[in-house]
Amino acid sequence: TKAKQFDLRDIVASYPDFPKPGILFRDINPVFRRNDALNYIIDEFYRAYGKAKVDAVAGIESRGFVLATALALKFGKGVVMIRKAGKLPGKTLKKSYDIEYGSAVMELQQNAISKGESVLIADDLIATGGTAVAAAQLVEEIGGKVAGFAFIIELSDLHGADRLRKMGYKVQSLVTYHGE
Ligand code: PRP
Ligand code: MG
Repeated sequence: TKAKQFDLRDIVASYPDFPKPGILFRDINPVFRRNDALNYIIDEFYRAYGKAKVDAVAGIESRGFVLATALALKFGKGVVMIRKAGKLPGKTLKKSYDIEYGSAVMELQQNAISKGESVLIADDLIATGGTAVAAAQLVEEIGGKVAGFAFIIELSDLHGADRLRKMGYKVQSLVTYHGE
């Protein structure tokens, strides 16, 4: 098999002081822009979760939507959108989570997942894990199970992935940044 011609770490862009001073922003856009990188990512997650029971892939708004859709096609399943509150019609469940200053709310439609269905949750990046924990709670409270988490980037200094693993979830990330 042909060796891969790139390292994801070199494709992720880094922007110091965005969106505010002191934050080093890891930008996934150049990764999504490349077909070879996208294919690699999807193959890696299929290697990790292809044998697990996955009935749907949930993407976390908004960067998680891109990954979730590509993954769903590979798994032969459909997509569930976990959205920032106020965008989804019908019966929904809401869950608040901490962000740097204050809190935000994620929302999921009650009819998005049937009882007992197993859901792979996808996002571009995990930092503190607050967003991911809220997503898992939403999936479980409407009757689903979490098959695992798929993140392209992990910021290990913020311990979000550890937090999820301690809660008993399977977590797969492809590029880890620690201490810059
Ligand atoms: C970013 C990122 C993850 C989340 C991770 O999304 O895409 O979803 O933060 O942070 P956490 O692990 O500390 O919760 P953001 O809220 O900036 O929104 P976006 O995806 O719509 O850009
Ligand atoms: Mg996000």
